[in-house]
Amino acid sequence: MKKSIVTMTFIFLATNLITSQKVEPTTEALQKKWWKEATVYQIYPRSFKDTDGDGVGDLKGIISKLDYIKSLGIDAVWLNPIYESPNDDNGYDISNYRAIMKDFGTMEDFDLLLKGMHERGIKLIMDLVVNHSSDEHEWFKQARSSRDNPYRNYYHWWPAEKGKPPYRWSFFDVNSDAWKYDAQTNSYYLHYFSQKQPDLNWENPNLREEVYEIMRFWLDKGIDGFRMDAFQFASKDTTWPDLPKGFEKNIIKYYGVGPHLHDYLQEMNKEVFSKYDIMTVAEGAGSTPEDALLFVDLDRKELNMAYHFESVDIGKHISDFGLEKYKAIFSRYDETFKDKGWLSIFLANHDQPRMVSKFGNETPEFRELSSKMLTTFIYTMRGTPYYYMGDEIGMTNIRFDSIADYNDVDTRNKYTNLKNKGGDTLAFLEEQKQVSRENGRTPMQWDNTENSGITTGTPWLKVNPNYDEINIKKQEQDPESILNYFRKTVQLRKNNLVLVYGKYSLLDKENPDVFAYLRELDGKRVLVLLNFTDKNTSYNLNLKLGKNEVLLNNYNDTTKVKNNKLRPYESLVIAIE
Ligand code: GLC
Repeated sequence: MKKSIVTMTFIFLATNLITSQKVEPTTEALQKKWWKEATVYQIYPRSFKDTDGDGVGDLKGIISKLDYIKSLGIDAVWLNPIYESPNDDNGYDISNYRAIMKDFGTMEDFDLLLKGMHERGIKLIMDLVVNHSSDEHEWFKQARSSRDNPYRNYYHWWPAEKGKPPYRWSFFDVNSDAWKYDAQTNSYYLHYFSQKQPDLNWENPNLREEVYEIMRFWLDKGIDGFRMDAFQFASKDTTWPDLPKGFEKNIIKYYGVGPHLHDYLQEMNKEVFSKYDIMTVAEGAGSTPEDALLFVDLDRKELNMAYHFESVDIGKHISDFGLEKYKAIFSRYDETFKDKGWLSIFLANHDQPRMVSKFGNETPEFRELSSKMLTTFIYTMRGTPYYYMGDEIGMTNIRFDSIADYNDVDTRNKYTNLKNKGGDTLAFLEEQKQVSRENGRTPMQWDNTENSGITTGTPWLKVNPNYDEINIKKQEQDPESILNYFRKTVQLRKNNLVLVYGKYSLLDKENPDVFAYLRELDGKRVLVLLNFTDKNTSYNLNLKLGKNEVLLNNYNDTTKVKNNKLRPYESLVIAIE
């Protein structure tokens, strides 16, 4: 009974708000686009659902869960790479861009998946990894075979007779060195990521045309867009200047947005994107909001949206960096994007710890409330929301104790590097418990049967032992669960264009506990109040609320706002006069 009243009130309010919505496209930021209104759900296929018992999730597994995905109300799925790969970096090292990784299934499975998504009105965004390929890609096999091979210039080489190449740091290399010596041609090749991920040479027009052909291949199958992996690093200064001491600490500045990056993006747009109605998103976009805008200012004809790293690179835990810093980042980016361009809003993905473990509070007392509060943030901030699988049930960091539990090339190689140098590996492992990418990659927690229902075999990565308590089946049965709150939040944004296009203004700027902001569009005003702490707190808005109606609240007991107090991790979305 309680549930149906709450749901009816919600539907009524939401409908009431939509009837008078209209968006005047006076600035680019107000121009209506499906990809601005869409909400994206990210699936890490290895960890989603396995159907053949090999312990690795597969495409048939995703197909078997399409009704669940649809039930979330999301509009698009971003799939991490599913192409053929030796899996040095879990699919981010591609050996054939036109084939499906055997662990995941076949091209027929892919076609069925795409069909199943489209039948349900869900769009499919593929991850395109073209800053680098796998060293097992045919191009690289050819390229390394001789200096005069036609594929040689698909990659970056440094002949050893010129001496050692100028130092470049690598994200995943066991020695942190991005040049790897290859005896066959007495040369070094460049790899910003692991040794098995050689960087492609974008200066070569033949390589660029091959990539555009790959893009057309997938787009002609009917996919709805690309997430451009690490593409900000694609253009390099190939005069290979020495970089200033300590550049590794500001790597995006030195590796991001190279001399021809925007030329490549404009060419790609002209050759490929402009011919399709798709969504394109850059992973990373330089080191400042101004850099990011250049990727997505529509007049420049490059990409649709970008997500920047400042809000996740900010530190290990919100208690270390503090809410004020966090608010300042989002507000600064919003200011730069207020008239032009478009951003993606996210708090977690497969490269990050769990959202609740970093920005919220994973203790039993506050896990649900803080997960709901963070969900509210993602769906009420200006930008397209990207939501990572498992966050809809408040999955938490796994915190592995031993290096043997880790599969990730990043953690394993950094550990070996440190060990070889005699560093403090125990301290490193302790830190990984909070920051490792593996925290976000543990298998989806479907139910409380063995291995959380993800596989009948041995899962490729350990399941978080808390699956007994935290799982989808349990939350399906509870109208007040995080999962059902997530569904409501998705609908709230869908039904209120003010939450999509509305102007954002930060309120109560100096408040160290509360993130408060206003969204405004065509006379509609929505106030969002988020308590990021585990204590009762208050806010000071300098704003007359007038008649107000609470549209969404995570304590589920508030219809009107009367005072300026918030309970621990309380979140309120309020329509005001
Ligand atoms: C991106 C991916 C990450 C991968 C890296 C190299 O950052 O999100 O998972 O390891 O690129 O491709």
